[in-house]
Amino acid sequence: MVKQAPKGPVRRAPKPIIIGNWKMNGLTAATKEVKALNALLKKAGRIGCDVMICPPATLISTLVEAAKRTRIAIGGQDCHAQVSGAHTGDISAEMIKDLKGKAVIVGHSERRADHGESDAIVKAKAEAALRAELTAIVCIGETEAERDEGKTLRVIGRQLKGSLPDTATPETVIVAYEPVWAIGTGRTPTSAEILTVHAFIRKKLMDRFGDQGSSFRILYGGSMKPSNAEEILALANVNGGLVGGASLKAADFFGIIEAA
Ligand code: PGA
Repeated sequence: MVKQAPKGPVRRAPKPIIIGNWKMNGLTAATKEVKALNALLKKAGRIGCDVMICPPATLISTLVEAAKRTRIAIGGQDCHAQVSGAHTGDISAEMIKDLKGKAVIVGHSERRADHGESDAIVKAKAEAALRAELTAIVCIGETEAERDEGKTLRVIGRQLKGSLPDTATPETVIVAYEPVWAIGTGRTPTSAEILTVHAFIRKKLMDRFGDQGSSFRILYGGSMKPSNAEEILALANVNGGLVGGASLKAADFFGIIEAA
């Protein structure tokens, strides 16, 4: 007997992705970590997630070369909203694309804090990523003071609304929830706290983008490491991780990939 296909759209959880954010770390010698990661991935055979590393701009080209014909994609950590022009020190999304980068992080809390990036600026950068056919990894997250004042969901809602382009699709945009107080501190929210925020983000995405909202990948970031990755990645609406410190060493990063 032929089994009937279920009626209506089949909702599958989006495939997880684990993204390493190297921040301002890594000289050319760090290429060896990408090679070591590839060796671990090859040995592992099947893995349940996509893998990406976002190194400093200076290493994009080198790592794209090192990651050729591997399962590791390479992305940037920031881009300017414009295609080109008089913006000393900045790089455009098109430049990352030109180096065969696949994605770019925008609106990381360190950029928001260190460079005064507003939601409007982050949105313009995300639009630039889409214009250049890069995936935009849009970061949002509350500070510790905002959490203490009970403002977490209000802040997340505002950032999401202000930072995501209207043209965002699940194929072109990834949302990363990174509580500022959990980044690089070794502290993480409880599973219940992560569940609450991720469910809220999912609802907002569905309110704004309809059914498509269920297919966006929502990543958790902030002190993710091999020892807590499994618990966090098993939570509903957590579709991967954005990993800082623990992405710098191939063995640690692989430990998180294995947990996905
Ligand atoms: P962390 O950083 O994993 O070192 O906390 C995460 C991030 O800022 O993306």
